[in-house]
Amino acid sequence: MNPIREAYVGLSWGDEGKGKFVDEALERAQLLAPEKRRIVVRYQGGPNAGHTLYISSAAGLIKFVTHSSPTGLACNADLGIGPNCAFDPESFLSELKQGQELFDYQGRVLISERVGILFDYHRKLDAWRESGEGRSIGTTKSGIGPFYEDNARRLTRVTFADYVSDNFPDLLREVLNAKSMELSAAGILKPRYLEEVIAVHDPIRRELKEFKERLEYRMLEYLEGGHHIIIEGAQGTELDVDMGTIPDQTSSHTPAPHAFPSLGLPRGEFKIYGVEKVYPTRVGNGLMPTLADDAIGDMITKNAGEFGAKTGRKRRAGYPNWAAIKRAVRINDCDGIYITRVDCIQDVDIKVCTGFQIDGKVTDEVPLDLSQIEKPVYQERTYQWKLWDGPRDLSNPLVVDQVLKEQRERYIQGGFDSFPPALREYVMDHDAYVGCKTAAVSIGPARGETVRREQ
Ligand code: IMP
Repeated sequence: MNPIREAYVGLSWGDEGKGKFVDEALERAQLLAPEKRRIVVRYQGGPNAGHTLYISSAAGLIKFVTHSSPTGLACNADLGIGPNCAFDPESFLSELKQGQELFDYQGRVLISERVGILFDYHRKLDAWRESGEGRSIGTTKSGIGPFYEDNARRLTRVTFADYVSDNFPDLLREVLNAKSMELSAAGILKPRYLEEVIAVHDPIRRELKEFKERLEYRMLEYLEGGHHIIIEGAQGTELDVDMGTIPDQTSSHTPAPHAFPSLGLPRGEFKIYGVEKVYPTRVGNGLMPTLADDAIGDMITKNAGEFGAKTGRKRRAGYPNWAAIKRAVRINDCDGIYITRVDCIQDVDIKVCTGFQIDGKVTDEVPLDLSQIEKPVYQERTYQWKLWDGPRDLSNPLVVDQVLKEQRERYIQGGFDSFPPALREYVMDHDAYVGCKTAAVSIGPARGETVRREQ
């Protein structure tokens, strides 16, 4: 029995549906070796993420959204928080509590002693900067930018070890002093602010203290003990602080290979799976070269309910951008791809971007400055498939449509070969172009609504 060693990373601007595959990997792990522990560990990002899961229960599907906690919470797996995450203890604990009616988290949480704490002042600074004059990024206002600045500045980083120690109040006072100029300018530093922050965190610190770990050592124990390890990305490759669309990006390193040094794990036998929504979406500012500013874009947003899990903002949808995916596959050193949401588009011609016109010349290289793209270049062949009979409303996964359910079941039973030929050809052409094989295609939001391909 080979334990599961898998990492899931978004290949575009996040919201690709990583959580669903983490959840399915956990289920596979359970079937494979139920006696072994299963851990889902995060290596970057924080409450800016939003993973939506649809979990089957006796009462039907339940929608469960996590921001700070890895999706493993919904599956009774162990949960790991790596040192490069932005750890928001308030949000994390409230998710644990919200889930505890369904799942038992006691004895299953491992928080790196090194991870930095995201505080109220990070959120407020983020919102203040975003609402100021001049250029904004369209952040989630979760405090991510100010948090990672403090991490990099070092003396303003409050680690989880500091947070749960008795020195916390003194340390926080020093940090607020060091940051006092900007905090005062933003109107955040008021009399008794320090005391207020401490009062909010005192009960949380007491509850979370027992979860402090030297995570890099614990991860090795999972590895050497033959336990299942699933690494979960937040956000996506195009939002990476170096490889993303600077400056409209997040502040952490999103590609999966960063997970290994960060968690103290060897890449070894880990498989990295890139998750790709068949049509890309983007929230926040920043250009989108293949934006579908037309009826097809509207259809996608409506059919697929494309609104941010974190902010509720409408996501812009675009045509598949294989050139960008090819780059993301290389950056992540992917072993396979999971394509999602092919069920949300049908009966329309899907065109595919394989390059860009820049200075009158065609290239398949993605430029740093997307405004240099005069126009995307689409390959001649388009694809049109039909998975369902008749028009169907897919916007609310909690409403079960019997026809859809049965048709999904037929595809799951029939496998990849039972897909309409145009969809199969789309996947095969995609794989040949991006240089990596699609391992599975998701045809619905719920656990198991995935068609796997022979490896
Ligand atoms: P921040 O990470 O909140 O600073 O936001 C920076 C950019 O990343 C903005 O464009 C956000 O919309 C985007 N972003 C951050 N997290 C996510 C996510 O989980 N999904 C999609 N976009 C995100």
